[in-house]
Amino acid sequence: MSPSGRRSTTSNPLRDPRDRRLSRIAGPSSLVLFGVTGDLARKKLMPAIYDLANRGLLPPSFGLVGFGRREWRHEDFVAEVRESVTKYARTPFNDTVWEQLAAGIRFVQGTFDDDDAFRNLQECLDELDRNRGTRGNHAFYLSIPPNAFEAVCQKLSEHGLARPEDDQWRRVVIEKPFGHDLESARELNRIVEEVFPPDAVFRIDHYLGKETVQNILALRFANQLFEPLWNANYVDHVQITMAEDIGIGSRAGYYDGVGAARDVIQNHLLQLLALTAMEEPISFDADHLRAEKEKVLAAVELPEDLSGRSARGQYESGWQGGEQVNGFLEEDGIPADSTTESFAALRLDIHTRRWAGVPFYLRAGKRLGRRVTEIAVVFKRAPNLLFRDHSEEDFGQNAVVIRVQPDEGVTIRFGSKVPGTQTEVRDVTMDFGYGHSFTESSPEAYERLILDVLLGEPPLFPRQQEVELSWQILDPFEKYWQSLDGQPETYEPGSWGPDSADELLTADGRTWRRP
Ligand code: BG6
Repeated sequence: MSPSGRRSTTSNPLRDPRDRRLSRIAGPSSLVLFGVTGDLARKKLMPAIYDLANRGLLPPSFGLVGFGRREWRHEDFVAEVRESVTKYARTPFNDTVWEQLAAGIRFVQGTFDDDDAFRNLQECLDELDRNRGTRGNHAFYLSIPPNAFEAVCQKLSEHGLARPEDDQWRRVVIEKPFGHDLESARELNRIVEEVFPPDAVFRIDHYLGKETVQNILALRFANQLFEPLWNANYVDHVQITMAEDIGIGSRAGYYDGVGAARDVIQNHLLQLLALTAMEEPISFDADHLRAEKEKVLAAVELPEDLSGRSARGQYESGWQGGEQVNGFLEEDGIPADSTTESFAALRLDIHTRRWAGVPFYLRAGKRLGRRVTEIAVVFKRAPNLLFRDHSEEDFGQNAVVIRVQPDEGVTIRFGSKVPGTQTEVRDVTMDFGYGHSFTESSPEAYERLILDVLLGEPPLFPRQQEVELSWQILDPFEKYWQSLDGQPETYEPGSWGPDSADELLTADGRTWRRP
């Protein structure tokens, strides 16, 4: 066993976590949650833990410990968890499952630099070990701002909580943002890895927990149909879109100074790019998978002059979905002269034999036309367009579109003869939808990821190298944007971003898909 107690594993990220014959059931363990009152904990983490319990994937002896400043007793925290479960869990409420889970819920009150609180935490975990049989296996989930990581990691270390005894494990789970740029990401990593060995650190990028994101690998490598065409000989360009129809809501404190590029391009979108563009790994072992992603991220080369390679915007006030909405600069907590972007688009080029000359366009934004995340691999036109005179103008660009969410599935677009006419050809689509082909509903990303943490299975967690390579791609754009004077361009709510986003593609003779 390694210091973190991680089993050497050849685990397969495509393996169905619901398949109990493969005994993907977590062993005796507990999870300590820092940041219990945050949105993430309430809306995603606590419900996901209940859903795992409900699916029979947590051990009967599981312990859940909340750590926070509130003057709560255990019962108060139990009531909080229950409320978030009844409101947000994916699976139905079951009294027996709940009673069993609730019996292992504890709360430790204190601040992140409070020795007494960490002593209490230690006693609490000892008590769970004795009374629930959690056997010294503990995961610490830091759902807190990165500037609090140092204090928590140090206290965990000082109180002997970070180092397991033989046959035990200790793991730490950290949420993005993994730094603000390359330098701060390295510093953050130094802080965490001073206390926890690298294989005990689980970095959550929740997009990797999504079923459809894991399906990118299945689509590409479990089929013979796509991979022969998945290269510069046939592909014209790739568009990766993550559009949200909501604004920043109450997250100004986090979002201002961060912006769309650091919030989701540095992590979610670059992970999607890596999975779409990487070579086939020799196995789904964590090291093999991560190595292939890293190779492709390392092959992204940027020109010296970044003008014309990106677009940024801020949403204006206006109407969306029949509702009047604030502009970005009027949102609560956003300074009136903030230059933070709520929309960003980039053009990236991957310098490998497979992708030379194939631009990857990435865009992400808030208050766009609708909520949709998709990867569109757009093919070159057929070399001889026999039907050109008889077709719509933009006919002939086949595409494979991986619909990450909502309406999860895959669409293939190709030309077909219009019935009854002599030679008219029009683009049509062929759809695969998860909802139609499978009866089970997909687990939430956090269910999968929390289970993997408890099982010690790392393939779906980016390692530090990936984080650093992603910052190396984004940092030059951030520098370039800083060098531009003034506010980002504006865009109307419900639109698809600022004009410069369209120009990014029209300059190359292309257009964005309207998802
Ligand atoms: C988070 C971002 O990582 O992803 C948010 O910080 C964003 O700004 C969210 O809203 C979107 O997640 P999902 O799963 O709804 O696409």
